[in-house]
Amino acid sequence: MKLVVATRNRDKLKEIKTLLKDLPVKAFSLNSFKGVPDIIEDGSTLEENARKKAAQTSRFLKKFVVADDSGLEVEFLNGDPGVYSARFSGKGATYKSNNEKLLRLLKDIPPAKRKACFKCVIAVADKGKVIGVSEGKCNGKIGFKSAGDNGFGYDPLFIPDSFKKTFAQMSQAQKNKISHRSIALAGAKKIISNHLSLYL
Ligand code: IMP
Repeated sequence: MKLVVATRNRDKLKEIKTLLKDLPVKAFSLNSFKGVPDIIEDGSTLEENARKKAAQTSRFLKKFVVADDSGLEVEFLNGDPGVYSARFSGKGATYKSNNEKLLRLLKDIPPAKRKACFKCVIAVADKGKVIGVSEGKCNGKIGFKSAGDNGFGYDPLFIPDSFKKTFAQMSQAQKNKISHRSIALAGAKKIISNHLSLYL
């Protein structure tokens, strides 16, 4: 069965495909389809955005869809960048400019006040309707400088609890064992499996 991952972000797709590989589905991203309208992520929560992306994409493509919305919440910044993680440094934001802004805002802030957490919400939709939502969270802290070349986004700055290295210094397999996305996907896989059994 075909499953559409409602993203154009190749980094996310790579992680999601790896995490779904034991399910009897073949995953495609939006890059495999023409004319899918961009969905405006104007929700005030990750869940609102994930639900909107999943439902609208499923309605448009008439397919089975998973959509992820994720972000980084930094305690010292009262939960920012949160839902604005992708565009934290403004128009034309890149992973690099976002990371630079975060380091600037946390300059001279001591380790005890650099707590952060990654959150991921995955919504699953079929026939235009959301059939389930799953959430994952990974606690950690923000380092003082960028470290590591793996992963994407804020990975070079995020040191998960109980580790002395950033997500970007881990292999994808290591990150996948503890990441917010893998926890959310474990829940989403149950929703997907239950739904697939309806087709058998
Ligand atoms: P969105 O879910 O596409 O709205 O964007 C989420 C943004 O949060 C990404 O562009 C990244 O900057 C950041 N993000 C989400 N998940 C991760 C992750 O696993 N590692 C690093 N950054 C992430």
